[in-house]
Amino acid sequence: MMDKLKKHIFLLTGMLVLSACNLDVESNQPDETVILEESPAIDLVFDGKIDPTNLSNYEDQFVPNYIDEDNTGFNDISDEVATLGRVLFYDTKLSVDNSISCASCHKQELAFGDDLRQSEGVNGLTGRHSMRLINARFAEEQRFFWDERANTLEDQTTMPIQDHIEMGFSGENGDPNIDDLIVKLSGEDYYQELFTMAFGDQQITEVRMQNALAQFVRSIQSFDSRYDEGRMQVNNNNQNFPNFTTQENLGKQLFMMPPDFQGNGGNRIGGGLGCQGCHRAPEFDINDNSGNNGVINTAADLSAVDLTVTRAPSLRDLFNQSGALNGPLMHTGRMDVGMMIEHYNDINAQDNPDLDNRLARGGGQNLNMTEDEKAALVAFLKTLTGSDVYSNEKWSDPFPG
Ligand code: HEC
Ligand code: HEC
Repeated sequence: MMDKLKKHIFLLTGMLVLSACNLDVESNQPDETVILEESPAIDLVFDGKIDPTNLSNYEDQFVPNYIDEDNTGFNDISDEVATLGRVLFYDTKLSVDNSISCASCHKQELAFGDDLRQSEGVNGLTGRHSMRLINARFAEEQRFFWDERANTLEDQTTMPIQDHIEMGFSGENGDPNIDDLIVKLSGEDYYQELFTMAFGDQQITEVRMQNALAQFVRSIQSFDSRYDEGRMQVNNNNQNFPNFTTQENLGKQLFMMPPDFQGNGGNRIGGGLGCQGCHRAPEFDINDNSGNNGVINTAADLSAVDLTVTRAPSLRDLFNQSGALNGPLMHTGRMDVGMMIEHYNDINAQDNPDLDNRLARGGGQNLNMTEDEKAALVAFLKTLTGSDVYSNEKWSDPFPG
């Protein structure tokens, strides 16, 4: 695993006293995690929910061997940096009026998404529906947001902070900017300790914030679903899963197999439903060259047109453990499961030059799904829900009260 060099540091009222065994004090190696022997501000603010001498495990979590996709890049997860990321994620100080944190729109109990169609930021409603943050790490597509406008997860993480509507540090029209936020956070003793623990000194930079937030988001993983229990017992997705009902296995087969149109335009006469072509098991991440899927209105306006949405979060944890949706579907936040199925059942390519080819046959596919097929597809999608991610404290709010 990771061989990390950890320095032992006593942090006393803003002054660093290095323990005797560590004489390379002047080492200008940046970004080295350290073990805090003393952390008075952290102890006070988090009331035991964060213990620097016994951090939660983010860096060495179990990942099933059938999972291949991984967009970690240079930014390997460490417990120290991800712990800082957790605090940033839940800290309302990251918004101009101290009212909104990342978690205001990405709620753990909703698979880190939102049940509102449009989420509330400091200056109004978001233009699109909030995205679940499940298994963001395990994906082929490296870019983020519904329209993929963030080139990496690191880039993405400080964009909501600098968005006028979401958290308000835009630097425009009288808004403070990210440097003002850095000054604000630098005044907090607990950040002096947390940044020292994560990066070796207390300096706050946008890049350090990005790396910490991205590590925390990448740590959010869900691999304890009934799908995973089944997948572990077979060699590939096409085999029937021993733990599935007949209906769930049928739904899985429909999801995985391409439709059979037999030269019949876009009219399906057999085969599966072709979902796997874009939402690929076992990650259920989106194919990185997907076009739009025909949902082209917007959250705010049914008659507006948005052809730019070509990404979806993993289809894992669409539903909660009781079988209810964690939030409405698509960037529009306008669909329940039934509407989603009717959408794919009958897609219209008219006035949509960017509709993905896979869905555009014969002017838009007609899947001719039977009621049994619809029910089986839903039953299968419900097997993709885990449990740990909804309740594990390491992903929960560290601020007491
Ligand atoms: C006011 C609500 C709101 C806040 C606050 C917010 N987000 Fe989001 N988040 C959204 C919405 C809405 C989207 C989708 C926006 C889009 O694609 O245009 C999104 C998308 C994302 C994505 C992309 C997921 C994907 O699969 O592409 C990530 C990652 C993310 N947010 C992380 C964060 C982090 C980290 C913070 C805090 C620094 C944060 N968000 C704060 C509402 C919010
Ligand atoms: C050509 C690629 C493609 C195919 C094939 C496809 N999808 Fe999608 N899917 C997308 C895209 C792109 C989005 C994001 C669309 C949006 O929000 O407007 C999406 C969104 C979704 C969502 C909403 C996810 C969320 O977080 O709100 C669900 C559920 C879904 N698809 C299920 C399916 C099912 C079931 C099938 C098979 C019947 C299927 N998809 C086939 C590309 C595809």
